[in-house]
Amino acid sequence: MTSRPKYFVHSYGCQMNKLDSELVESRLLEAGYEPADTEGEANVVLLNTCSVREHAEDRVWSKLGRLRVRKRKEPELVVGMLGCMAQEHQRRVQARMPHVDLVVGPSAFGDIEKKVDAARAKNSVVAVDDGVSGDSIFRNVRVRPHRSQAYVSIMRGCNMPCTYCIVPTTRGIEISRPMHEIVEESQRLVDDGVTEITLLGQTVNAYGRDLGREFTLSRLLRELHAIEGLRRLAFITSHPNFLSAELIDTIAELPNVSRYLHLPAQSGSNRVLKTMRRGYTVERYLARAEQLWAKVPEIELHSDFIVGYPGETEADFEETVQFMERVKFAQSYVFKYSPRPGTIAADLEDDVPEHEKARRNQVLLALQEKHTREKNDRLVGQTLEVLVEGDSKVEGRMSGRTWHHRLAHFPANDPALKGQYVHVRVTEALAHSLVGELQPAPALS
Ligand code: SAH
Ligand code: SF4
Ligand code: F3S
Repeated sequence: MTSRPKYFVHSYGCQMNKLDSELVESRLLEAGYEPADTEGEANVVLLNTCSVREHAEDRVWSKLGRLRVRKRKEPELVVGMLGCMAQEHQRRVQARMPHVDLVVGPSAFGDIEKKVDAARAKNSVVAVDDGVSGDSIFRNVRVRPHRSQAYVSIMRGCNMPCTYCIVPTTRGIEISRPMHEIVEESQRLVDDGVTEITLLGQTVNAYGRDLGREFTLSRLLRELHAIEGLRRLAFITSHPNFLSAELIDTIAELPNVSRYLHLPAQSGSNRVLKTMRRGYTVERYLARAEQLWAKVPEIELHSDFIVGYPGETEADFEETVQFMERVKFAQSYVFKYSPRPGTIAADLEDDVPEHEKARRNQVLLALQEKHTREKNDRLVGQTLEVLVEGDSKVEGRMSGRTWHHRLAHFPANDPALKGQYVHVRVTEALAHSLVGELQPAPALS
């Protein structure tokens, strides 16, 4: 008997890619493939790729270079490029990388097992828009990396005009999934032991615009909130323009909705926001944040920032610093602007020198670290509910997430705790996480 073919999937990029990779794995498992422990022992290596910045792409190009070397020795090896780069670079890969057998864009991997079968039979497969979308397949909820946590995609694509961003090109136009499908999938996940669901979309709070007036994220949250056994419900990523009064009221009313909101600002300069075509001003962002805090005082904001966007002056940058000081985000990702071919901003001169981008990046990261640290310091002595994710990097410790999505570590060594909600009394605040001790339940403060 020949052994079952083994696969290995590398995921780059955002949570959507991580979820797509899970769906790809579930299809392969159902088709009789087996997961390889290491890339080296896999017969099929799939790279689920990201195009958002040049650096993300460079990592994939160099990985493909190494796979080319390996394939010379192992001609049977199947190499696949999935995701956003497959969409973006289909021609280049076909023309210049004959060792890549499969090129499958983000909307065409729902029948990936058939494509991998075909590639193994040496019919190289290129499917960019053409194929079955992952969203339209009936998800096998049993195949997932975490027993208690799951992502659910509620929309694909993006219709926003942000000048720097490649996502609308790689992921296509915004398409919301029908609400009943989302509710049904979530119910099956909860029936199978999931207690925390994170809904995914590039502009997740714009959900339903294409479905009709009665379909909104608020209504979806209410329907999901009614699922018995679902203890935490989160959603990423929100766009400031769609943070409606209705959504704010819904968050306030629903106790199981997580108390963090990823609401990327990108810049604190109105001039830069305008050239980025983000569609809001600093004042408008702040007004929405104030409305949110008035109704949900305990909610924390997370942001993304881009430094060194074309034409960003020192004065613009200083405005971003002041803006961060005002909002005091609990967490921020800071990115150096990276021109993406084909975007509107790619036609502008990338005029902020690399060393200056690096400096601005460091300044914002240091400021964010200070704010995160201050917020963490205030939690010392409090007892928080933590959903245990697994072993922490430090031996003898486990870790999990709080209600605000903070990482908390505590001494424990009990695999049975994984997926459980425990109470942790915070003893120490670190720059990016908390350290504490397990408390006997139900001593929640
Ligand atoms: N849909 C989400 C984020 C998508 S991409 C949103 O609208 O917020 C994730 C982050 O990557 C963005 O928030 C932005 O900060 C960053 N990003 C996108 N394009 C970029 C580029 N060309 N250079 C640097 N950072 C970029
Ligand atoms: Fe990109 Fe803007 Fe869409 Fe976010 S909202 S994915 S930054 S185009
Ligand atoms: Fe990257 Fe595509 Fe996500 S470009 S950030 S993997 S949508």
